[in-house]
Amino acid sequence: MATNKFYDLDEELGEILISAEAIQKRVKELGDEITRDYRGKNPHLICILKGACVFHADLMRAIGLGISVDFIAVASYGSATRSSGEVRILKDLDESIEGKDVLLIEDIVDTGLTLDYLLKNLSTRRPNSLRVVALLSKPSRRLIPARVDYMGFEIPDKFVVGYGLDYDQRYRNLPYIAVLKKEPEGGARS
Ligand code: IMP
Repeated sequence: MATNKFYDLDEELGEILISAEAIQKRVKELGDEITRDYRGKNPHLICILKGACVFHADLMRAIGLGISVDFIAVASYGSATRSSGEVRILKDLDESIEGKDVLLIEDIVDTGLTLDYLLKNLSTRRPNSLRVVALLSKPSRRLIPARVDYMGFEIPDKFVVGYGLDYDQRYRNLPYIAVLKKEPEGGARS
């Protein structure tokens, strides 16, 4: 019997950077902090597809308040390691955010270009408040300052997969964050 249920990925994955236990502990802490900060309010959690889907699903269950959710999908062009800053909305929100207390849920902030674009775009839609929650950040890669209000972990400049993050649409189902052995070439965010 296999001891590692991801036995078929062993060849491609490097070290586990953040364990499943460490992620769950941090998600609970972030949920508690948001619950305290938004007491008396009903935050509207916007998931940036697809990478933030796992984090979004866990975080909403760690928040002890009435919440609502929506989803947005964007594509940014450039290579997987060098974003061009050109961002396009592939799927827009279903509902208006006017007057809502919006929490934008991102998987990882890399150059900061995607977040900058989305914050500018969403703030024109007159939310009551707009804050950012990011599971991961690679501060050494920033091309533009990014305002992250709730941060999970800062990581070094390595390409990581798991817990929603993919390479070529794979690895999203890993419960931990692992380094991809080979730095990917080409592609766009997803
Ligand atoms: P940026 O901040 O505009 O450069 O882009 C952030 C997006 O790039 C993230 O939401 C991911 O989709 C993707 N990305 C950046 N670094 C990684 C990584 O290490 N693994 C997987 N996706 C990444």
